[in-house]
Amino acid sequence: MSKRIVVAIDGPSGAGKSTIARRLAGRLGFLYIDTGAMYRAVGLWALQLRVNLSDMHRLEQLAREARIELGPGDSTVFLNGEDISEAIRTQEIADAASRASAVPGVRRAMVEKQREMASRANVVMEGRDIGTVVFPGAPVKIYLDATPEVRAGRRVKELHEKGLDAHVDEIAGQIRERDRRDSTRADSPLMQAHDAVYVDSSGLDIGEVEEAILRIVRDRTSNGKDHAS
Ligand code: DC
Repeated sequence: MSKRIVVAIDGPSGAGKSTIARRLAGRLGFLYIDTGAMYRAVGLWALQLRVNLSDMHRLEQLAREARIELGPGDSTVFLNGEDISEAIRTQEIADAASRASAVPGVRRAMVEKQREMASRANVVMEGRDIGTVVFPGAPVKIYLDATPEVRAGRRVKELHEKGLDAHVDEIAGQIRERDRRDSTRADSPLMQAHDAVYVDSSGLDIGEVEEAILRIVRDRTSNGKDHAS
């Protein structure tokens, strides 16, 4: 069987990964996989079942049992057949996901699922460890970053658009705490793969970031169409 192409996009929260990855997948005709949503699904299930987030064994069990499906071409997420797309987008779930994602057994379960998903289609996969752990051999690796101020500003704008109240200082504090946890955990911490291209989205609009990354994809995969070697 010919090898599938993986475009790996990693970076901290609020760098624009989801928006860019989704648009890129649309342009390339690849499947978009939001791995953060998968960790959020585990976090949500743990909270629903009142599982203690320090109970590593139980969290691993949940991660293994969870039937997580991602709707093709959009941001729909299903957990055990139930649409949880909206429910996972809260600060509480973001924190639970960040804690669950530090558990090695949870990561092993998610990585298995992610590799399985990418065995069936070309994918744009975004997360924290895609280029370093999940697909260290991916032909295209992007590390998408932005300054903490810009990331907090974007998040506040998103929340305001949903009619929710939010203050930059508070959001910046939450982002810093999540960055700290995600990049200092022992297993698969957030970091740039040595062969990833660093893209700083701070001063760019979405279209500019998309074009910059598309050029990299085309450069490395013969126009995003050839099979990677
Ligand atoms: O990208 P996000 O905010 O939806 O991710 C939620 C949490 O999941 C985040 O705190 C870090 C974690 N995560 C991870 O550890 N590895 C990934 N590949 C994706 C997300």
